[in-house]
Amino acid sequence: VKLDDEIIQKEFFMQIAMVQDKIVPVEQLDPAYFDRGLYFGDGVYEVLRSYNGKIFGLDEHIERLANSLAAIEITGIDVKEIRGRVQEAFDTAKVPNVKIYFHVTRGSALRSHGWDNSLKPNFFMLISDLEEDPELKAKGVAVSVYPDIRWKRCDIKSLNLLPNVLAQQDATRKGCFEAIFLNDAGFITEGSSSAFFQIFGRTVHTTPLSKSILPSITRKFVLKAAANVGLEIVEKSIMPNQLKAVDELLLGTTTKDVIPVVEFDGQTIRDGRPGKYTKQLIEEFRLFTV
Ligand code: PDD
Repeated sequence: VKLDDEIIQKEFFMQIAMVQDKIVPVEQLDPAYFDRGLYFGDGVYEVLRSYNGKIFGLDEHIERLANSLAAIEITGIDVKEIRGRVQEAFDTAKVPNVKIYFHVTRGSALRSHGWDNSLKPNFFMLISDLEEDPELKAKGVAVSVYPDIRWKRCDIKSLNLLPNVLAQQDATRKGCFEAIFLNDAGFITEGSSSAFFQIFGRTVHTTPLSKSILPSITRKFVLKAAANVGLEIVEKSIMPNQLKAVDELLLGTTTKDVIPVVEFDGQTIRDGRPGKYTKQLIEEFRLFTV
């Protein structure tokens, strides 16, 4: 990434930069300091994982990326090329089980809310070892609740994650694995970084897709797994008080696929152990990954 020299000359006139406690000549600043992702969260991201040397759901993630980019009007970057970069970096890593994070921001420029259409998007990717914790699937996890204070376009996988970050920190503080968002009307939307499912008898409930939740890739495959197992699927939001009658809870997220939930907001679910359909869903999901 290089800042347009003309912009630097024209607009950096009479500007002084300071990084930590050091004055730095503006011309010497790394363009990363001007990334609109940093100032405005002006960008989108994806998280993928691989299983045994194969990237899972690459097409789905690239399709969602294309939708996110279009929704915030970032142009000038080709998603097919990004797909190639993901594959290339993964092939270079030569590690069978990894987490792949990448983001695309609108570009680097002097801070100003509006943008210039000539801006070149910035791309950053990080591939790292995936730490698997079999205990999570074996024992299940506890979840807390947190008000869904996010914006009205949660279907966009944007870099603006402050509500998610605060929710997760609150969950961690309470000894929970994940926070489940409750909207202003008291309905469950989704987890701070996961899709959430409730099983009543042989019926799997989950929040319907809308602008209020992320179209989770794991959600899609969990619902496919549920259909394969012969469970009925109901896409309808519910309230926490309806969980008095729930048999099983589970969450879904790329890095961990299916995780049983055995405690909700301090209440133990049934016998406090992962439910039988959840275990079946974990097994069924595994078949998609081989
Ligand atoms: N988060 N909902 C939210 C708000 C999320 O941030 C995520 C994933 C999900 C699950 O989506 P998927 O199944 O496509 O991973 C649902 C990623 C993993 C993250 O932010 O790290």
